Amino acid sequence: MQAADKLAPGASMASLWLAVDPVSQRILDMARKVAATSSTLLLRGESGTGKDLLAQVIHYLSPAREEPYVKIDCASLPPELVESELFGHERGAFTGAASQKRGRLEMAGAGTIVLDEVAALTLPMQAKILRVVEEKKFERLGGNVTLKIESRLIALTHADLEAAVRQRAFREDLYYRLNVVPIEIPPLRQRRADILPLALHLTEKLCGLHHRPLLQMSAPVRKALEVYDFPGNGRELRNIIERAVLMAVGDEILTTHLPAHLAEARPGAGLDRLLSLEDMEQQYISEVLDHTHGRKSRAAKILGISRKTLLEKRKRYGLD
Ligand SMILES: Nc1ncnc2c1ncn2[C@@H]1O[C@H](COP(=O)(O)OP(=O)(O)OP(=O)(O)O)[C@@H](O)[C@H]1O
Ligand SMILES: [Mg+2]
Repeated sequence: MQAADKLAPGASMASLWLAVDPVSQRILDMARKVAATSSTLLLRGESGTGKDLLAQVIHYLSPAREEPYVKIDCASLPPELVESELFGHERGAFTGAASQKRGRLEMAGAGTIVLDEVAALTLPMQAKILRVVEEKKFERLGGNVTLKIESRLIALTHADLEAAVRQRAFREDLYYRLNVVPIEIPPLRQRRADILPLALHLTEKLCGLHHRPLLQMSAPVRKALEVYDFPGNGRELRNIIERAVLMAVGDEILTTHLPAHLAEARPGAGLDRLLSLEDMEQQYISEVLDHTHGRKSRAAKILGISRKTLLEKRKRYGLD
C-alpha cells in the first residue's frame, strides 16, 4: 500500500490519500511529481472522488508545505462575492466596504490557492482569473497597487469543461491555461482495489470520531462493498461507513447496518449468517419496504403477495 508519506507535521489523517489500486498509485506518483513543481494544476473527477483531498496532499508534498493552503469555493459563494473574496478590496471600493480587506489570493502568500468548482465562475471572473494565471498579478477591488502572486493555483472541477467550452460557458483560453497538467481521478468503481482499504481506513477514522471501539467488518459486508458501484464515490463510501458505525450495536458491522440497496442485489446475498426462512422473510420484507420508502402496495407488488398479506406479515414481524 502506498500513502502520501511526507506529510508536514500536524497534517491530519484526512490528508492521507489512500492508493492501493494501480490506477490510484499512478495518480499518487503523478501528484508527487507535480508537487515538486509550481505549475498550475487541474484536478478532475466525479463528485466525491477525492479532488479536495488530493489538492491538500499535493500541497503537503510540495516545497510550499509550510506556507498557507487557501481554498475558495466558486460554486457556493454568490458570484458577486467571489471577486472580493479572491482579490480583496480597498476601503470604499463599493457600498459596505468599510475597511480594507485582504483577499484569499493575498492570504495564500507563497502557498497554494485552490479554486474549487472552477466551472462555476462567471465569464467576467474567468477573464480575471486568466490574468492571474498568465501574468501572476492582480489588484484589490478599488485599488491601484498591483500585487504579485507567488502561490500555486490548483483548479478543481467535476464538470465537463470541454462541453462548457463548446457552449461558450467557459473561456477556451482559460481552459487551455488550466489544462496544462490535468489529473483525472477515476471513479471508485474503476479502481475497485481501493474500496476495501478505504472502507477500513474510514471505519478506523469514524470509530475514533464517534468515540467507539474499532468495529470489525463482516465478510458479507466486505463483499457487498466490493461489488457496489458507488455513484457518489469516496464521499458515499464515507457516508455508508458513518451510518454503519452509528448503527452497529455489537463489535462488528453487519449487512443490516448497510443501506438496503447495497445488500439487496439478490435475496439472501450478503447475509452474515445462515438464517431461518422466517428470519430471512422478515429481513427481506424490511429491505423491500425500505426500498419503496414504506409504500406498501409497491412493496407487495415486488414481493408478489397481496397488500393484505404484507400488512399481516408486517404486523407479525413488528415492522410497522
Ligand atoms: N483516496 C482517498 N483516501 C482517503 N479518503 C478518501 C479518498 N478518496 C476519497 N476519500 C474520502 O471521500 C470524501 C470525499 O472526498 P473529497 O471531498 O476530496 O471529494 P471531491 O472530489 O472534492 O468531491 P466534490 O466534487 O463533491 O467536492 C472525503 O471525505 C474523503 O475522506
Ligand atoms: Mg470537493
